[in-house]
Amino acid sequence: MNEYDTELVRSLLKSSGFTFTTDKETADVVLLNTCAIRENAHTKVYGHLARLHPLKRQRNLVVGVLGCMAQNLKQDLIEAKSIVDVLVGPDGYRRLPELITHAIESQEQSLARKEVAVDLSEYETYDDILPDRPDGLNGWIAVMRGCDNFCTFCVVPYTRGRERSRDPEGILREAEHLAAHGYKQITLLGQNVNSYRAENWDFARLITAVADVPGIERVRFTSPHPKDFPPTLLDAVADHPKICKHIHLPLQSGNDRILTMMDRTYTRNEYLQLVDDIRRRRSDIVLTTDIICGFCTETEDEFLDTVRVVDEVGYHMGYVFKYSPRKNTIAGRKYPDDIPDEVKTDRLNRLVDRLKAISLQHNLDTVGQTVPVLVEGDAKKSSAQWMGKTDGGITVVWEKDAAPLQPGTLVPITVTRVTATTLFGHPVAP
Ligand code: 5AD
Ligand code: SF4
Repeated sequence: MNEYDTELVRSLLKSSGFTFTTDKETADVVLLNTCAIRENAHTKVYGHLARLHPLKRQRNLVVGVLGCMAQNLKQDLIEAKSIVDVLVGPDGYRRLPELITHAIESQEQSLARKEVAVDLSEYETYDDILPDRPDGLNGWIAVMRGCDNFCTFCVVPYTRGRERSRDPEGILREAEHLAAHGYKQITLLGQNVNSYRAENWDFARLITAVADVPGIERVRFTSPHPKDFPPTLLDAVADHPKICKHIHLPLQSGNDRILTMMDRTYTRNEYLQLVDDIRRRRSDIVLTTDIICGFCTETEDEFLDTVRVVDEVGYHMGYVFKYSPRKNTIAGRKYPDDIPDEVKTDRLNRLVDRLKAISLQHNLDTVGQTVPVLVEGDAKKSSAQWMGKTDGGITVVWEKDAAPLQPGTLVPITVTRVTATTLFGHPVAP
């Protein structure tokens, strides 16, 4: 979502006459688009700001902090000693050209003014702004913004504000625009994407309509909440050939007491029932997840409940995070962060090892099979190899050969060897 917001900001600034450089040594303005979801995201931004200090001492330089951290840490970031000149939250991007211009003028007049836009909006969806996307295959479309769920650990409802959905017409226009410009894969985005609602449109109807846009080969979505999976959405994922057979299903915890403390609104059994409903429709749907370990008061036995759910579901992949208390959140205010860091780290490592072993087993099961792969571009490690993704989102790498291939084509690849994260193979002989 932050990368998408950066595309919006680029678009807004370009249409106001700003130009972009990736070289901060020569830039007049440096903007950091920030995330506040966990403590390490904050730490990174403070690191970047520290590195800008010497530049700021040498010359006029406007430094702006955008996004969730700007929203969440307003006071800290604009205190007099801070090098931040411009602070803009996720709903204030339209004001950015004006605020940067003011900041440049203030600096020229040696005024130490701070330009701030951190009001949250109930309506802003940037519906009329076409993001300035990099060329390629993958285009993101934010279909909704904000979140009303207030999971007790999560800062998003405070930094991104109330849930609001875009009109389906604007979303479909953007999907058609992407198709017309050669994009093959669309990822529908939202903090709580499957709670999308606009008049008589729900997420199932929306994703089906996007998947029906001619020229689009694959549609993905992230991040959903397990509470919003009506049968129509499960059917759409299972049956529509262009909707990827992949559901990211954040578990957070496999223990009912912890789930209640997190206010996730489902029990372990309800979650497992949903997994069952998905698998009964199609056993090959790839499931991935997010898990928090070491949430306030979590005991070893409660943590083991999470491990048991991981084993039972057999996710293809999972992100595991150590709980970090966030400013303003319900857990941050009400519950002690009482699990020692070593215990959190130990739980994280055990879960990561378990998830890796399961991923490896899933990948080993594909050896010898031929899978359709959307070619994305050069492999990270070598431009002598292609990299692409399976429908389920698994990375596939193979040697380039004499046959010319274009990113964006679907090719059948026979899997010959795997790791926990990657399938290796070769194209099927024509
Ligand atoms: N501490 C640790 N992880 C968190 N997440 C959200 N808030 C926190 C927090 N305070 C994780 C959740 C969410 C993912 C995007 O980040 O697992 O699904
Ligand atoms: Fe945060 Fe997601 Fe919960 Fe919303 S649904 S509060 S974004 S974890």
